[in-house]
Amino acid sequence: MGKARVTSGMRPTGSVHLGNLHGALDNWVRLQNDYECYFFIVDWHALTTPGGGEAVGYENVSRMRENVIDMAMDWVAAGLDPDKCSMFVQSHVKEVAELHLLFSMITPLGWLERNPTYKEMVLGYKIESPSYGLLGYPTLQAADILAYKGDFVPVGKDQEAHVNLTRDLAQRFNSLYGRDVFPITKVLLTEVPKVPGIDSVDRKMSKSAGNYIALAYSEERTTELVRTMFTDPVKMRKNDKGHPDGCVVYAFHGLYNKAEQPSVRSECEDGRRGCVDCKKQLSARMNESLRPIRERRMELKANPGRIKEILMSGASKARVVARTTLEEVRAVLNLPPEEIF
Ligand code: TRP
Ligand code: SF4
Repeated sequence: MGKARVTSGMRPTGSVHLGNLHGALDNWVRLQNDYECYFFIVDWHALTTPGGGEAVGYENVSRMRENVIDMAMDWVAAGLDPDKCSMFVQSHVKEVAELHLLFSMITPLGWLERNPTYKEMVLGYKIESPSYGLLGYPTLQAADILAYKGDFVPVGKDQEAHVNLTRDLAQRFNSLYGRDVFPITKVLLTEVPKVPGIDSVDRKMSKSAGNYIALAYSEERTTELVRTMFTDPVKMRKNDKGHPDGCVVYAFHGLYNKAEQPSVRSECEDGRRGCVDCKKQLSARMNESLRPIRERRMELKANPGRIKEILMSGASKARVVARTTLEEVRAVLNLPPEEIF
């Protein structure tokens, strides 16, 4: 028996940030040792939303290429190893588009209309006239996963509905055609740290909220952003008693300075710690921890041929698997092969 397959993707709508690093990439890096992994940069999915400003979308494609390359560099810098996993660009495997088309024939509209993320996207991005592609987002995601017969999908709670739809679609296909073509995909729930935005402990770090620190930012910019992090608003002076639970800096000490987090708490609560110093200490720790990733990223940036090579070999490995799946699917659907004519 081969290893179980893991598939996951990320939209190249903007920069990879610390939320993506600790919430997804760190986990992927661990998974690549134990599973057969397919990680893709979902450029087609990036076109489901309009974009605008910095964000890539169907109305703003100028930075698409750059974002895809940057994302690949971030992935490798964070530790994804092309010898252990296949990493590639979604649109380089055309079989996924074909599978999406075939799945669209058997995806009940009601499933898509009921999808909570669809409603959130329409409201969140203030989309006046949602497209066919946006409604079909989970069908495309199911094609991403099932083209490689993904057993597990390491994603957060917010993506659970999409993975459940993938599972339902796999079951529907298998039962319609009486064959176990697709596995019953499951979410791989792993404990991942919550990374708040720099503006509030109650909001997660995200591209769309603009409350992020990118992996690729310089140490100076990181320090500057830590300086602007939301802290306890009633703590004005060092000797004021603070409330670390609502403070973003405190939350980040938990991510980058775990051992000292309890003393940060007591010093803050007792009025023995000032926010300025607290932030300086944090940004020093963050920069220290991110330095090796950022150095690897600079090396990759200096050698663009390397990333191209990684993405091309990832796509050719993925294509072999997707081709086999599609041959099976076409046969099950009784579509006539070209050579019969
Ligand atoms: N919808 C996912 C997200 O926004 C991205 C994605 C696309 C994905 N295809 C996928 C995730 C396949 C897992 C598997 O994060
Ligand atoms: Fe937050 Fe540190 Fe200030 Fe306390 S001292 S409020 S933990 S920044």
